[in-house]
Amino acid sequence: MEPRTTPQVGGMGHSMKRKEDPRLIRGKGNFVDDIQLPGMLYLDIVRSPFAHAKIKSINAERALKVPGVLAVITGETLAKYNLHWMPTLMSDTQMVLPTEKVMYQAQEVAGVIATDRYAAADGVEAVEVDYDPLPVVVDPFKALEPGAPVLRTDKKDKKDNRIFHWEVGDKAGTDRAFAAADVVVKQDLYIPRIHVSSIETCGCIADFDRVEGKLTVYMTTQAPHAIRTVFALVAGHVGLSEEKIRIVSPDIGGGFGGKVPVYPGYVIAVAASVVLGKPVKWIEDRMENLQADSFARDYHIKAELAAKKDGTMTALRIKTLADHGYADAAANPSKFPAGLFSICTGSYDFKNAFAEVDGVYTNKPPGGIAYRCSFRVTEAVHTIERMTDVLAQELKTDPAELRLKNFIPAEKFPYKSALGWSYDSGNYSAALKKAMEMIGYDALRKEQAERRKRGELMGIGISSFTEIVGAGPSKHFDILGIKMFDSCEIRIHPTGKAIARFGTKSQGQGHETTYAQIVAEELGIPAAHVEVEEGDTDTAPYGLGTYASRSTPVAGAAGAMAARKIRDKAKKIAAHLLEVSEDDLVWEPGKFSVKGAPQRAKTIQEIAFAAYTNHPQGMEAGLEAVSYYDPPNLTFPFGSYICVVDIDRGTGEVKIRRFVAVDDCGNIINPMIVDGQIHGGLTMGLAPALFEEISYDENGNIQGGSFMDYLLPTAMETPSWETDKTVTPSPHHPLGAKGVGESATVGAPPAIVNAVVDALSHLGVRHIDIPITPEKVWRILKDKGVAE
Ligand code: CDP
Repeated sequence: MEPRTTPQVGGMGHSMKRKEDPRLIRGKGNFVDDIQLPGMLYLDIVRSPFAHAKIKSINAERALKVPGVLAVITGETLAKYNLHWMPTLMSDTQMVLPTEKVMYQAQEVAGVIATDRYAAADGVEAVEVDYDPLPVVVDPFKALEPGAPVLRTDKKDKKDNRIFHWEVGDKAGTDRAFAAADVVVKQDLYIPRIHVSSIETCGCIADFDRVEGKLTVYMTTQAPHAIRTVFALVAGHVGLSEEKIRIVSPDIGGGFGGKVPVYPGYVIAVAASVVLGKPVKWIEDRMENLQADSFARDYHIKAELAAKKDGTMTALRIKTLADHGYADAAANPSKFPAGLFSICTGSYDFKNAFAEVDGVYTNKPPGGIAYRCSFRVTEAVHTIERMTDVLAQELKTDPAELRLKNFIPAEKFPYKSALGWSYDSGNYSAALKKAMEMIGYDALRKEQAERRKRGELMGIGISSFTEIVGAGPSKHFDILGIKMFDSCEIRIHPTGKAIARFGTKSQGQGHETTYAQIVAEELGIPAAHVEVEEGDTDTAPYGLGTYASRSTPVAGAAGAMAARKIRDKAKKIAAHLLEVSEDDLVWEPGKFSVKGAPQRAKTIQEIAFAAYTNHPQGMEAGLEAVSYYDPPNLTFPFGSYICVVDIDRGTGEVKIRRFVAVDDCGNIINPMIVDGQIHGGLTMGLAPALFEEISYDENGNIQGGSFMDYLLPTAMETPSWETDKTVTPSPHHPLGAKGVGESATVGAPPAIVNAVVDALSHLGVRHIDIPITPEKVWRILKDKGVAE
């Protein structure tokens, strides 16, 4: 799409430099830990060394003698106010602090409040907790076996460890299609626990003003409004009423889904501030963040794909065990316990599909968050893109050809999937063909054949993913009953400058820039003159926040709709000023002019001034509007990625030689920002494919609980990404835009795995679970007798 506005106005399609960057790159950002309040106290947390244990006693005597320590808060303290348990966003319950037993290693056991951070840490060391270890359940399959210890003894009627069973699709029809299939391939896949590892850990400052009875919490949250409501619902009975709660999300250093849940530390800090009447700061350290905050993934998948001899895919059947840890603390919309996993039919025209997911409790930290992924879409995409390659291998077909044969054809959109989604728009073969051309696919296949003859291991992997973002139509999507719309309020000042406030919250995605560009696009006011504000519940309109790439599809749309309301009023004012009928006016970005007499015009700035100085009699003064946007559907971005790898036969190391990513997120607001989103997303896709995993030993001890063991990719490990795009607008979004933030994280891992398996397929290798570490590959090479 060619930009409709000039670069000076900076509407859609301009790679405008980010308005937030001068602040951030000069170290002038304002993150929670930058905020210092007079008289502020510090919270540090005692954590459990055991994964499952009874608490026999907590002795705070020694801790209270540490200089600077003022108080120790335990579950018993909170239980007096009935605040020791809280709801999770999935309507499960989670401990704030335990009164009876701990359920995972690193669980919060007590809070120590002191005059400085170091005194609080010394106090934590001095708290004496007497534990009585209990049997630990780590393996989710064993958790479901008869006789397994029931973990949630707090739930009176709970007789086992199953959280939910969820299924979707036509089981009988799918079974019939499998029975009639020429070819059936089956594969087990494990998608391990991983962690978002954002640069900034979680934290807050709770500041209770005893005189006003007002609680202000500066906190690292992606969803400040929802958090305010949760606080009001949970603590209303102790006098915290919603109008007296203000949540402020200042600058946030990465969220990726990990800053959606309410962590116990937030609640303990609030309780401490209310009790002590002083501001209380809590900032997690890196290991606490990695060990105790919500994790992502942990899906054990059994997948089956049925096809005809000619490669036509006919049916998909998936059975999954989801390990949720000790509480279901995912942030999925409430009707979707397995998130949007039912996007697992992907980019392919399946007539039949059936998927089922069982959620299970184990002695691990709670979660199942949407880590840079729209609620389990990464798991779904990994499954279908791996299965497509497994089928190609079985049929001895080229995986690109198999994809092109089975793609939903461009003319079939809007497309109703076998599992019930209505895909808005797509052109999958255009994206794959573009990626194939960019990378020189045919030549690479020839090169691979030659290298194979020389015993060299080179692989080419494809992922042609379909995403589903922008939750959501409020008819189906809510979190704790709060509908998933989003909002924007725009005020135009008399001199034609504007402030736009949104219900979302950027964590680095560049909303201050792109939202200003949306207003510029719709009103012709230069983006430089549009101030964007998010994250303060006292000023921003109510919204559900930023996660799962919903900002552009939902709040961005609200921005366009609010701007259009303003344009409607501006038209009336222009008609008044120009003394013509509204029907005689034409709009071009920035001004209304009279049809046939373009020199007779009023700019949006002149109209804004008139809105306060010379508006028509009978019309309200001012120029502002608010929109609460309820999207009619989700948006379905997509892309095709191709990865080329070389494998070292001596070490098993996988080297990514090239990686081409062709993305389609409909119309683009800021191409530079989208490119940045994709670069970051690809690196976050590389990470679980090759490096990252959190695992536990049989006693529930975390392995990978520090960055010594949990390997994040650095610039050294990251290849040079080659990106391009196709543009297939969303037909229902007011700007034709789709979300993009998570596409690359969702799409990249299977491209990498497919490339590695492709390099080893002639040795009989069909699947490798992520992360594909050099050790795993080397063992395979040794097994196959090709290790050097
Ligand atoms: O919800 P979140 O901001 O994480 O995801 P998003 O809506 O996909 O947007 C990520 C960033 O890319 C935002 O700054 C968007 O405005 C920008 N974007 C864009 O410029 N054009 C699109 N079609 C989609 C996103």
